[in-house]
Amino acid sequence: MGAASIDVVSLFPEMLTGFLATSILARAQKKGLVHISVHSLRRWARGKHAVTDERPFGGGAGMLLKPEPLFEAVEELRKDAPSAWVIYPSPEGRPFSTSRARELARMERLIFLSGHYEGIDERVREHLVDEEISIGDYVLSNGTLAAAVIIDALVRHIPEVLGDEESLEQDSFAEGLLSFPQYTRPEIFRSWAVPPILLSGHHRAIRDWRQEQRLARTRARRPELWEIWQKRGEKD
Ligand code: ADE
Repeated sequence: MGAASIDVVSLFPEMLTGFLATSILARAQKKGLVHISVHSLRRWARGKHAVTDERPFGGGAGMLLKPEPLFEAVEELRKDAPSAWVIYPSPEGRPFSTSRARELARMERLIFLSGHYEGIDERVREHLVDEEISIGDYVLSNGTLAAAVIIDALVRHIPEVLGDEESLEQDSFAEGLLSFPQYTRPEIFRSWAVPPILLSGHHRAIRDWRQEQRLARTRARRPELWEIWQKRGEKD
């Protein structure tokens, strides 16, 4: 399988500059594990004023992204990748999750379309977009931030992106559970001591303690996840 390629078509490409040039995202691109290209939607806008949005038919607040530039953008980007999967981040999409991040990380070519939230002509959603993804029940003023969130979460799952293989296993939600508490130096900070078991050197006991902590924390903070985890255990 070739390295994943991701295109983002946005009205605000500059929003992604710092994000893509920093930390894990920067390193993954440098190592050639993922190729990420950001395109300004204006590149596909026509006419002297390069119009990308218009008022909605029937009246109402805000502006909508016009269909033509979005269709032309995807058609051009799909020329060398006909099977590219087109994602529109939207609060009306399916809720994003670790399991979807893992699946998207296995796809060879993704195209994200994002714009400002008032919306997008419905024909784009019906005839161009393959999947709408929501990153939570709130409204962002534009989808570029949501695209960044989805990309960040999925790139972690591309093999070799994380140097330390354990990081993924320790992530919250890795087995449907939250993560365990972690401590670093100093051993005592403002009279708060690190749990002694972590200093004991007993790897097995530490592993068991961490698993107990994950369960207790998940039960307290996310009882619905804990229930699912329990039911799965009963079946196995
Ligand atoms: N665009 C605006 N709000 C969003 C959300 N909650 N999720 C994904 N895309 C969005």
